[in-house]
Parts: sequence; C-alpha cells; structure tokens
Amino acid sequence: MTQDEMKKRAAWAALDFVPRHTIVGVGTGSTVNHFIDALASIKHEIKGAVSSSVQSTEKMLALGIQVFDLNDVDSFSVYVDGADEINSQKHMIKGGGAALTREKIVAAVAEKFVCIVDSSKQVDVLGKFPLPVEVIPMARNYVARELTILGGRPVWRESVVTDNGNIILDVHGLAITDPLALEQQINQITGVVANGLFAARAADVVLVGAATGTLVLQ
Ligand code: 5RP
Repeated sequence: MTQDEMKKRAAWAALDFVPRHTIVGVGTGSTVNHFIDALASIKHEIKGAVSSSVQSTEKMLALGIQVFDLNDVDSFSVYVDGADEINSQKHMIKGGGAALTREKIVAAVAEKFVCIVDSSKQVDVLGKFPLPVEVIPMARNYVARELTILGGRPVWRESVVTDNGNIILDVHGLAITDPLALEQQINQITGVVANGLFAARAADVVLVGAATGTLVLQ
C-alpha cells in the first residue's frame, strides 16, 4: 500500500467523526484533499465548512461544498486536518503546506481536532521535520537570528508567500522535547505570526492510516 493510499484511508475514516447537519472545520494538504473528496460524498448531509486555506476553499467550492467565513460562525464541533509529525501526546508539527496560521485559528474555534495521518507521521520526538514559522516579511532576518539562538537552523522557504502575505522560515535541527514550552517561546519573538507546533492545541483524536487498517487513538 502506498503512502497516499494510507492517507486516503485515514481521511475517509474521518467521516465517522463528522456530526451531520453542522459546519465542519477543514484543514489543508494532500491528506485533507482526500477528506474533502469524502466530505463531498455527504455534502447534502452537512451545512458546509470553514476552511483553513485558499487551496482547500477552492477545492470545496469546486465540489459544491458551501464554505462559510469563520467570522460568521460562532462555534462548530469538529476540525479535520493532517500533520507533518505527531507524537504520542498528540502534539504535532504542521505547516508543510504553509497554512499553519489559519489552521491554528480554525482549530482554536473547534471543539474537537481530528488529525488524519499515514503511519509515517508518527514520531517519538518532534523536530526531524523542519518546524515552519510564519513571519512578517520585514522581520525575516531578525526572527531568523532569534531562532538560531534557540538552537535551530532557519531556512527561508523562498518560493512561498502565505495566504496572509507573509513568509515561512523552516527551522531545521530541533529535537523538541518540550513542545508546549518551545511553541510559547517562539510565539514571543516579535515578527512571528504563528509557529507550526500544535501543543497548546493538540489533537483530540488521531486516525492513523496503515496497511493493516485505520488505527483510532483517542
Ligand atoms: C499544511 C499542513 C498539513 O496538514 C501537513 O503539511 C500535512 O500535509 P499532507 O497531508 O500533505 O502530508 O499542516 O499546512
């Protein structure tokens, strides 16, 4: 079974966690693209979605799923999104698709975060995947120097401008033994918009697609 087939397996399993006749929070990425396909199959049974990126919004609209502005939605039950790495405490690194800030905002409003991953995303210690940090463009070099002081090796993802008009620094070389502390520390750097550590808002349920089936961790 390929990695993409495992992603698809986890994504379709997430339909079991979608309450009908409500609004669903939708993340970003290749795993979520499978989830959007799955969601389209029940589009007449949901009110619609709130989206974490232009990419996901465009795909949902193309499939006939109504997309609401988050400002018009006070609350919703479930947010479904992928991750680049996830540990046993359900802390994650996200932002490989540069959508981390909007993902964090939508996840903050949701009552439950359902994370969908293939089994390659499970790790003991976060940090092998470079940690994405969204930064105000004029602060790029200042923030990079501060991230170096924290022990990382920031690399500017030059080809990318986020949906919010900002840049991404990918921080290599971190062994993240205290994700909550590092998430807060990086947020304190002036010029940082958000970082890809999801520890303060960890996942509630993890669906791991594997060759043997889908593992449900709650
Ligand atoms: C996008 C993300 C994605 O959830 C993460 O990069 C996983 O992507 P994929 O499902 O393509 O492996 O955080 O910003």
